Amino acid sequence: MYSLIMSDSVKIVFGDKSYEFPVVKGSKNERAININALRAETGLITIDPGYKNSGSCLSEITYLNGEKGELSYRGYSIEDLTKNAGFLEVSYLLIFGFLPSEKQLEKFQIDIHKESLVDEDLKVILKSFPRSAHPMGALASLTSALTAFDPDSVDVESEDEIYSAVVNLMAKLPILCAWTYRKVKGLPLNYADRSLSFEDNIAQMFFRHPTEKYKPNKIVNNALNKLLILHADHEQNCSTSTVRIVGSSHAGLFASVSAGISALWGPLHGGANQAVIEMLEKIKNDGGDIEKYILKAKDKKDSFRLMGFGHRVYKNFDPRAKIIKKAADEVLNDLGVTDPVLEIAKSLEKLALTDEYFVKRKLYPNVDFYSGIIYRALGIPTQMFTVMFALGRLPGWIAQWWEMRKNNEPIGRPRQIFTGKTDLKFVPISKR
Ligand code: CMC
Repeated sequence: MYSLIMSDSVKIVFGDKSYEFPVVKGSKNERAININALRAETGLITIDPGYKNSGSCLSEITYLNGEKGELSYRGYSIEDLTKNAGFLEVSYLLIFGFLPSEKQLEKFQIDIHKESLVDEDLKVILKSFPRSAHPMGALASLTSALTAFDPDSVDVESEDEIYSAVVNLMAKLPILCAWTYRKVKGLPLNYADRSLSFEDNIAQMFFRHPTEKYKPNKIVNNALNKLLILHADHEQNCSTSTVRIVGSSHAGLFASVSAGISALWGPLHGGANQAVIEMLEKIKNDGGDIEKYILKAKDKKDSFRLMGFGHRVYKNFDPRAKIIKKAADEVLNDLGVTDPVLEIAKSLEKLALTDEYFVKRKLYPNVDFYSGIIYRALGIPTQMFTVMFALGRLPGWIAQWWEMRKNNEPIGRPRQIFTGKTDLKFVPISKR
């Protein structure tokens, strides 16, 4: 279990008594009141729907400063990592805590290649889904089904067992993601090619034409690499918190990640990348009237929200969106693709950023605003966008699950304040 770095303390006055609670300090001086003993000492709990002000853990993995728009993994900024590293290297960094040497990375890649097979019977499960099924549903089911084919639970005290579970999941999830894509496209299901790098192999598993040898494409590889790195972790977001809380019951890694995939699917979280493109398409087909949609987003009686805008933590800008916006321009240019929705996205952003409603609420484009435009340019169907997000988030989920288990965190079990009816007397059904 980690030790808490204490600084200062906070006094809470309740009734005629005063209580003191320690303040915990992080590496960048961010501070939190440790209320572990609050209920025992005062009889009170805290209420914080959506956990807007509640920290669930201490973590060494990812640092995020929402006011300054900073994001770093294990101390390295995402600007530095997207410029200089590969997705597998960043995955290693997140999971094991340090940048690998050439030898360590090579071994990691070879070990992953060795596990790059999934039980053929999983194809039967995928086959039973209709072609129209959403790939995120299929992916969550297939990931969960993997536990049935590899039921051993992991001894978290054993470095070897953890390593083997990590390698297994890093090998198998990309295959499942590629399979869901190939199912949507009606293509034969593919396996890995051991002669390729991890990143080229992902592209190969997705895009290889059944009758042609796959030739790695630098533009596609670079774009995918950047997107996967930018999605690789984001501290205690909805899906990661789900992975940690499911894992806190000592459910296995695969089961926990499968739950994370379901959490990511929602349009307020990872599913926003699909929702953004659908929204931009809708605006385009409606004559491109951007102002109309800005007005709809501001209208509290209208359920329409500007998808890809706003973030729980970023209140200035999302540093991932900055990198992705630039990459979208580059990728479309390199591929010689013109996409009218990119222009709509840019005009929408420009208008929103000068509109009082968005400025006052500190609503800026988030990571999902431009990512779909790149996926589209790579030929990935809209329904697959969130699967790509899941693929990128995998190392983060693994790292967070492992950290939670290593720290022997207690089972996640929030409390509540009951507001329902009380002391009712049972009325027999014939008298109701
Ligand atoms: N369009 C219009 N109004 C918005 C939007 C939006 N996209 N986002 C927030 N608001 C308004 C909201 O109505 C509220 O207004 P008021 O104070 O008048 O009631 C205010 O801004 C605060 O919003 P909130 O919903 O309380 O903020 P939150 O921190 O609970 O929600 C969010 C964050 C990301 C869920 C939200 O901004 C949203 O729904 N955005 C659109 C969906 C989206 O792009 N999600 C991807 C997030 S980034 C990737 C990821 O996490 O996976």
